[in-house]
This record gives sequence, C-alpha cells and structure tokens, in this order.
Amino acid sequence: MISSTPTHFPADFVWGTATAAYQIEGAAAEDGRAPSIWDTKCLRPGIKNNDSGERACDHYHRYKEDVAIMHSLHLNAYRFSLSWSRIIPDGEGALNPKGVDFYNRLIDELLASNITPWVTCYHWDLPQALEDKYGGWKSKEVAKRLGDFAHRVAELYSDRVKNWITTNEIHVFTMGQPLQIVHNALLGHGHALAGLRAGAKQPLNAGFAEALWSEHPVYDTPEHIAAASRAFKYSNARITFPIFEGKYSDEYFEQYHENLPEYTDDEMKLIGAPVDFAGYNIYSGSVVRAANNARGYEIIDFPAGYPKNQLGWNIAPRSIYSLIKHSHDHFGDVPVYITENGMPANDKEQRNGEVLDIDRIEFLREHLAHVQRAYADGLPIKGYFHWSFMDNFEWMEGYSARFGLVRTNYRTMARTVKLSGKYYAEVIKAGRVL
Ligand code: BGC
Repeated sequence: MISSTPTHFPADFVWGTATAAYQIEGAAAEDGRAPSIWDTKCLRPGIKNNDSGERACDHYHRYKEDVAIMHSLHLNAYRFSLSWSRIIPDGEGALNPKGVDFYNRLIDELLASNITPWVTCYHWDLPQALEDKYGGWKSKEVAKRLGDFAHRVAELYSDRVKNWITTNEIHVFTMGQPLQIVHNALLGHGHALAGLRAGAKQPLNAGFAEALWSEHPVYDTPEHIAAASRAFKYSNARITFPIFEGKYSDEYFEQYHENLPEYTDDEMKLIGAPVDFAGYNIYSGSVVRAANNARGYEIIDFPAGYPKNQLGWNIAPRSIYSLIKHSHDHFGDVPVYITENGMPANDKEQRNGEVLDIDRIEFLREHLAHVQRAYADGLPIKGYFHWSFMDNFEWMEGYSARFGLVRTNYRTMARTVKLSGKYYAEVIKAGRVL
C-alpha cells in the first residue's frame, strides 16, 4: 500500500505519458482525414531527412497494442491530442464520422484498461483549410473556430473524458511571430476553454499545457530565490501571466513597446477565465542570481561542457521544482500537472533488441526527485506525464530524435519497452523515486 509520507507520492498521483496526433497517428489520408498545416510543411524541404508524419508510428492502426503496453507499464493516465482535420476535415462545418469514431475507440480502449484519458484539443496541426481561408493564427476567426471545435469534441467525448487541455505550447507555435499572433493564440485558448465548458456532459477538469521559462536560483538563499521569482514574471509575461491575470502585466509593457496587439476587454476576460489546472511542459531551464540592475536579477550562462541532451538542450532538473514553486507563488493554489518532460537520446538497440537508456533513467530519476520534493513541500503538484510514450515524429527533427519510453522500429513498426520504460513502471508501482 502506498502511503503519503514525504518520500512517497500520494496514492492518487497522476502518472502518465504524452503524445500528439500528428506525431504518432499516421494514416494521414485515411478515412476522410484532410491535411493539416503540418502535412503541407512536410511536403517542403526543411525537415530532417525529408521525414513526414504520413505514417508516423501507425498508431491509428496499432492503438490497441499501444494501450496494452501503457497498461503493462502501470500508467494511470495518457495525454494525447485530437487531429482536428480528422474530426472536421475543413476545420469548420461537417464532422467526419470515421474520424470521430477513431477517438471513440481509443477512449474506450483506455477506459477498459483503467487509463484516464487527458485530451488536448490543439497540438499544432491546424487544418490546412483554415490556414487557406483565414491565414491561420493571423486571424481571430481561427481562435473562434477552435472554440467551436472544442465545443463539438466536448459534446462527442466528455461523457467519458473529464480532463481537457485547450492548447499546447502557444509559446512554441507562435515563436518569433508578432505579438498579435500570440494574442490570437491566447484567444484560441480562451474560446476553447469556453467551448469545452459549453459542450461538457459532466463537470470538466480543463486547463492548458504551456512551455514556460523556468529560472532556478543559483542556490537557495532568499536573495537568489527572490531573483528567480522576478525573472519568472518577466520571461512568462507574454503567455501564462495573461491567462492567470486576465491582463497584460507591467512586465509585459516594459519589454514590449512596439507592434503591441489589438484587443478588447472582453477578449482579456475570455483569456483570463479560470482554469481548473495549469499544465506545464518542461525540458530545460536557466539559472539566475540576484543582481544590482533594474530588474534585480541576471541569467548565468551555462558553461561549455555542461551536460546536454542529444539536441543540445541543457539538462536542468532543479527547474522542474522551481516551476512548480513559481506557479504556486504567482498563481496560487491552482493544481499543477507536468504535462510534458523528457529527453531525446542516442538510443542504441542491443543485439537482443533491448535499449539500455541509462541516460534517460538518470534524467527521469532526477526530475522525479524534484517533483517529489515539491510535493513534500506542500506544493499543489498532482501529476506527471513523460514525453513521450514512444519514439515519434519530432517535428523539424523528423524521426532522428527519439524521446520515447518505448522504442519504435520505423521499419517493422515493432514497439520495444526501453529500460527507462521499465524503470518508470517500477516507480509508479512503488509510488516513490527509485
Ligand atoms: C511539444 C512536443 C515535442 C516536444 C519535444 C514540446 O515542445 O509539445 O510536441 O515533441 O516538446 O520537442
């Protein structure tokens, strides 16, 4: 029996893995699915090895096998996203019954295996038809269409699905874009949240999944802790603070003076509507110390030779603790779920097919230890989803970056649980970091 002593996680802790539709499903042109902007992007050069999500992990046909593996790993939750253009090929208007049915089958399979579905409405694969008609996120119309989509899918699935995520990482899919596009995407979150609640068949647990900057103090003294907290408020002024505060903050206007977005009070109300939880995706972080400058902090660069993952991202497990702490200090008691955390690695298959990814185990162990520390400190951390369940289509990196707890053999489509997957399963079983 798992007890809630400080070295353990609570018995009701949510243990999951995460994926996204375009990254795993494949069956891109099957059963009435229409292209998304990612299908289009993959036709052009730019993606490593000219890979595309056309077949991906063939999860569309192999979902039963995948759910069975999840069950064998003791996962009690699974976060996945809906392919909008599979369910509504034009992005607006008529439903595609076969697309609707796929997710019915997936949800039922999960529930039959005691795995709670966590559904993301928008994980970057905008229907191409909406890009063509409205110019994508340049238009506030697309934000409204996302609201309509969320309303429809809540009507379709919320009899069985309680946990919903509006948008995945506005920070990433609007990167380098004008502030107006960021604002429109925030509006997309707002409309999606309202749409979900309007279509809900039961009280929902609804929130967002966002990639935040997470600064941790160089060491835990009051002055550096305060410096990291100030840094957090600056670096997340564009996306997460507006969601919690329903306005753009002083720190926002201090950083941005030109090309500010156009918006109304009603839009800010929609963006700032209460969420039931905050979902945070975290892969790295930065280190901060107090400084005698206007902002009162400075970021310390990672020295050459600091441990990095396969894609060169600094490994910074303490920032997962800081993220949970910052969230509590700035946004109060809102429940926090780590909706993504993981690393790409140079996995090698042994002759017998095993993958002995002790680098990923170490990463997982360190991060979970900091999540556990947050829980022991009384912070409102409720669950952890590892990115990813299986190796999959890693956007611009194609299939070259493997993030899975389960290896995907892209030739045979065989799945093999890596040593890290076995480790995670044991942690879940024990309810503590091993
Ligand atoms: C995204 C995932 C992606 C992962 C690793 C996040 O930015 O939500 O879709 O695969 O990070 O890069």
